[in-house]
Amino acid sequence: YEAQLDLSDIEKGTYPYYMLKEVDEQPAVMRKISQAYLSQQGDCQIDEALLKEMSSSDRIYIIACGTSSHAGWVGKKIIETLANIPVEIHLSSEFGYNMPLLSEKPFFLFLSQSGETADSRQVLVKINELTYPSLTITNVAGSTLSREATYTLLLHAGPEIAVASTKAYTAQIAVLAVLAKALGQQKNRLVAKEFNLVHELGLIATSMESVISEKELIQQLVTAYLTDTRNAFYIGRGVDYYVSMEAALKLKEISYIQAEGFAAGELKHGTIALIEEGTPVLGIITDEITGSHTRGNLKEVESRGAHTLVIASEGLARPTDQLILPNVHPLLSALLSVVPTQLIAYYATLQRGYDVDKPRNLAKSVTVE
Ligand code: G6P
Repeated sequence: YEAQLDLSDIEKGTYPYYMLKEVDEQPAVMRKISQAYLSQQGDCQIDEALLKEMSSSDRIYIIACGTSSHAGWVGKKIIETLANIPVEIHLSSEFGYNMPLLSEKPFFLFLSQSGETADSRQVLVKINELTYPSLTITNVAGSTLSREATYTLLLHAGPEIAVASTKAYTAQIAVLAVLAKALGQQKNRLVAKEFNLVHELGLIATSMESVISEKELIQQLVTAYLTDTRNAFYIGRGVDYYVSMEAALKLKEISYIQAEGFAAGELKHGTIALIEEGTPVLGIITDEITGSHTRGNLKEVESRGAHTLVIASEGLARPTDQLILPNVHPLLSALLSVVPTQLIAYYATLQRGYDVDKPRNLAKSVTVE
């Protein structure tokens, strides 16, 4: 399955910004990944040698920067659940100079949209010197990281032009889910065999479409909650926390609102001191077990004056919640809950009159350490 560059992929068409086009492309990307990697019977089309080597490893080290590292956190949850292999996430710029104690049979997984990030490459060079096996998951066939790793898998997201990564993040999670299922099947795990990923990714795609059709509501919420604010917080627990980190990065990198994503339970250990009258706190609630705890944290900040906005899955939603997401498989909830946060960042940036696609001081691909 070869990635082909179609000219329409790199033209903006009627879109004012690439970012909006790329957000809208996500349902199609989900379907494309499903076609590229899964059969209708649920078999995963992934190199047998890769699966053998990876499933026999005792620990997977995910190495990435920025948005890709946030996708790694979600991937960790999926791989650990389906394949039962421990996963650690490391920022490339930290790992390179501060290598942790490694397990006996480590396997290195490089996540990189561009496949060119220098911080990640310097880790790969070291890993190759140590002769450890590696896999690069990237959007760019033939990129440096994909050439230099033992194995490579393509994201099939199509060219991503906007500096703020959107469809590459969801594509990374979807490909990691395919890989996790394949690894779990390789290890004969029932939970992996029974995970109907073709069906679940199809459901994700249609659910993404329904969230994307709520642009007007999202724009209104941005006006109501984020106008003139200096800062904003996203909170959640578990996967909702991982999405909160990505949601905050998206918001800060393009709208310049100082945004942070926090584990909801950590608020009271420091961050709550920053809550003032009118501080926006956005809660993400898709997890049944921790959702009520996050609601408790939202109450705590509300009583200190925070302006709270809740993004919740339908099954867990309350009538007062501002954004309701269709129910999807809990392991894949990040694929959906991130979409409104991408649009929140987009509209907050438009409202402030900044260039959505080319934020100050940032580059799409950072080729210096
Ligand atoms: C740059 C981009 C980010 C991206 C990061 C990692 O900083 O601005 O959007 O997440 O690099 O890039 P990669 O291509 O390795 O995923």
